[in-house]
Amino acid sequence: MTLAVERSDSSCGATIRGVDLSGPLDPELVSQIRSIWLQHKVVAFADQQMDDDALERFTLAMGGFGEDPFFDPIAGSEHVAAILREADETSGLFAESWHSDWSFLPKPPAGTCLLAVDIPPVGGDTLFADQVAAFAVLPEERKEYLRSLTAIHSAQRGYAPSGLYGDADEGRSMAIRSDESANETFEHPLIITHPETGEEAIFASFSYTVGIKGMSDEEALAFVLDLQSWQTRDEIVYRHRWEPGMLLMWDNRSVIHRATGGYEGYRRELHRTTIAAAA
Ligand code: SIN
Repeated sequence: MTLAVERSDSSCGATIRGVDLSGPLDPELVSQIRSIWLQHKVVAFADQQMDDDALERFTLAMGGFGEDPFFDPIAGSEHVAAILREADETSGLFAESWHSDWSFLPKPPAGTCLLAVDIPPVGGDTLFADQVAAFAVLPEERKEYLRSLTAIHSAQRGYAPSGLYGDADEGRSMAIRSDESANETFEHPLIITHPETGEEAIFASFSYTVGIKGMSDEEALAFVLDLQSWQTRDEIVYRHRWEPGMLLMWDNRSVIHRATGGYEGYRRELHRTTIAAAA
């Protein structure tokens, strides 16, 4: 079976219709999906009838479960977390700032899956910015400079007790648990080489990049903010519009992403798993 792929009009993002992911997955189908995912970086599967077991089966087939700190899973599952906002919730939007999932871990997840459970009739799009494209068009001299840098990642801005989702965060329906371990840091090259495609990508975001080796905190902050405006220019951003029943899978090694609002008064729930880094 050859899958029909509709490309988005951006440099990343594609939609696949007419495939059923609710049951056991044929290895040939898995291999086709993985190669479409590596090419387009973000792939949506429309009109699915998947439950949490199917989401787990799909995640296992794509590479196995990643580590998920700071979230409690939903009841009855070890690996599925709910991205949830109740209709009357007033806490700040979750994940509204650009990031690559859990980039502060020594082995950040290769990908993330998000399954639509309750989709509002308006708003709640997810934005993706193509980090291979962001790097590719830079002048060679700038590329060389960026390649020489090491980024310091940490979950502290979000998940430390003093962070956005920490002690002062009230009324949130998502099961986030902040703790002191969020202050730990881990270094990654600023420019990574994708282990499966060999492409170079910028691996940084304001959410999790808290320093650059050799720069003062002030210099690093200014550098990261300036770089992020380059990383998220309109021409390399794909706006994903959710449909009921949709499954989305993205590659954390080649895109950064963020949530958007615009659905005040409506409930939004998606179930999320992460795909482990390639061994
Ligand atoms: C996330 O960053 O995991 C959530 C994205 C979204 O809610 O659209």
